[in-house]
Amino acid sequence: MLAACTTHDGTVELRQVDVPKVGPRDVLIKVIAAAQNPTDWKLNSQKTTIRNLMGDSFNLTDPKIIGCDYAGVVAKLGESVTTNIKIGDRIAGWVFGSIEMNGAFAEYLVAPSHMFLELPLSWSFEDGSQLAVACYTACQCLYQSLGLPSPENPTTTPIDILIWGGSSSVGHFAIQLAKLGGMRVITTASPKHFDRLRTLGVDEIFDHRDPEVAQKIHAFTNGKLQYAVDCISEGSTPQLVSDSLGLEGGTISSILVYKMAVRPEVKVIHSLAYQLFGKSFGSYPTSTEMVEFGTKSSKLISKLLAEGKLTPAPIKIYPSGLASVPEGLEYMKSGKVSGEKIVYRIADTPGLSA
Ligand SMILES: NC(=O)c1ccc[n+]([C@@H]2O[C@H](COP(=O)([O-])OP(=O)(O)OC[C@H]3O[C@@H](n4cnc5c(N)ncnc54)[C@H](OP(=O)(O)O)[C@@H]3O)[C@@H](O)[C@H]2O)c1
Repeated sequence: MLAACTTHDGTVELRQVDVPKVGPRDVLIKVIAAAQNPTDWKLNSQKTTIRNLMGDSFNLTDPKIIGCDYAGVVAKLGESVTTNIKIGDRIAGWVFGSIEMNGAFAEYLVAPSHMFLELPLSWSFEDGSQLAVACYTACQCLYQSLGLPSPENPTTTPIDILIWGGSSSVGHFAIQLAKLGGMRVITTASPKHFDRLRTLGVDEIFDHRDPEVAQKIHAFTNGKLQYAVDCISEGSTPQLVSDSLGLEGGTISSILVYKMAVRPEVKVIHSLAYQLFGKSFGSYPTSTEMVEFGTKSSKLISKLLAEGKLTPAPIKIYPSGLASVPEGLEYMKSGKVSGEKIVYRIADTPGLSA
């Protein structure tokens, strides 16, 4: 099959590679569309860090298939798969792109059978490809790290939550899940995204570049804000999110490790969605609880999709499928992504067809 691979010198090239083998609990997916995440360019430039985390199992010189997020159809089931998934079913999910010879920027991939979403006909494959990394991460932040109410058991007493970076992919779904959980959602973004984010139900929104943004959020929440998801978690956001919280402090769910200390009354919990797969990632261990949480999140998100309760973020489809990957990675690496998800249709790749 054709796949976009990292090479030992950090460049990206299209290669003919083997279709990955289907393990007993795996599912083979024919990828229709794949969406890009920051990790797709970051991991390629941080190979030594990954090697340090993963040890000898990560060979620095071998090519790896890029891409985590995908939508596609089930092509084959492993012999021990017990879910009621069938060949031909439409699904969305994610894999460990850039770490293994199994990635989303390819014609086929194998996925563990507890980590994918049932994609209803109301969602195109292109829109559906953006779901998994962002939705599972949002679930991990809201429910595992912060212990907040889920859409299955919405709060009836008011709870304020700050979703910092509402126009990011993770922010887009964190806002929707928090609203479905009954919370009052405050977010930050560039003003050009305000109208769209209001359609998701956001209660108040602030410009993240406003020098007084933290003081304004602090005042809006009467100095009592206790919960925040920091969907950016770098640069000045640790300070700003911490300053937005109430005088008595609170808890921040971060999606990158904070590189600076925040005030002592603020607790920061970092999570990594890779843990939900059932494979440890360096110092981030997996556990039965993590796998159970992944399974539960799959069911919750699939149910919300079937009920028409989630809305996709705008997508930007590159014209030449996998051949466009180097251009798309460069666009993202240079910081141009703003309120959009980069998507590749595999059949648009020159030489391939649907
Ligand atoms: N822990 C995990 O498991 C996990 C999972 C997924 C992602 N991540 C990490 O999370 C980060 C975000 O990923 P993503 O895919 O959601 O990002 P993304 O969609 O590519 O982020 C782009 C958005 O970030 C916003 N932004 C940039 N700087 C900001 C700031 N200082 N304040 C508020 N918003 C800001 C931009 O907003 P405007 O255009 O409105 O200015 C833009 O819309 C990445 O570092 C990624 O590696 C971690």
